[in-house]
Amino acid sequence: MNIVLLGAPGAGKGTQGQRLVEEFGFAHISTGDMLRAAVKANSELGQKAKSYMDAGQLVPDELIIDLVKERISQPDAAEGSMLDGFPRNIAQAEALDAALAEMGRELDGALLVDVAADVIVSRLSSRRTCRACGFTGSDKHEVCPRCGGEMYQRDDDKPETIKNRLDVYESQTAPLVSYYKEQGKLWAVDGDRPVDEVYADVKKALSL
Ligand code: AP5
Repeated sequence: MNIVLLGAPGAGKGTQGQRLVEEFGFAHISTGDMLRAAVKANSELGQKAKSYMDAGQLVPDELIIDLVKERISQPDAAEGSMLDGFPRNIAQAEALDAALAEMGRELDGALLVDVAADVIVSRLSSRRTCRACGFTGSDKHEVCPRCGGEMYQRDDDKPETIKNRLDVYESQTAPLVSYYKEQGKLWAVDGDRPVDEVYADVKKALSL
């Protein structure tokens, strides 16, 4: 199964993605995680991407599309992949369709985790992430409940950057909802409910 997780920043794509990976072992391909790892490693990609990420802007397509093409061609993604944070605009969606077609594969669909903007702002302001294992939690977690690592606030979870990220989502990423709907490939779940309830709906939508 090849699926895309769609939704505004902070809608819960990573949270639901982590659950699906733990239960079903999908290859979880998060472009945000890949870019943050590149920034941490101070690689050439990380150096180029950092200023865009800190400003809440999308990194240029030419930096991200080849990275994803390479990642979905890895053996662990052959059985199926769950893309989280990609595509972010129509050009990326078309590039993904073409790359999958070249490999004789096809996208099964896109799952929209739907949450209102005011809920998003409060979630992102209190989000904390584990520096060691990447676990996503909140400011209630003083240490990571999974590995005991240090929890930190992402640079792009500051109020002024959150606003930019929401604006970018509305102008560039939200049009993907129609893109997939017109192809009959859109599922949607209400993400403004407790994580377990959202997850139950996610599994129902994906027939898992
Ligand atoms: P990325 O890392 O993809 O960020 P994002 O899309 O903004 O998504 P988030 O990780 O912020 O949110 P999420 O939906 O995963 O929510 P989460 O589960 O963490 O991208 C970062 C940057 O990288 C971009 O701004 C861009 O610069 C660049 N980038 C990445 N991909 C790119 C691409 N394809 N092209 C160009 N640039 C790209 O949940 C959020 C919080 O809410 C957590 O604290 C969580 O515990 C909590 N929560 C989750 N679900 C619930 C619930 N049901 N109830 C209550 N709380 C909940």
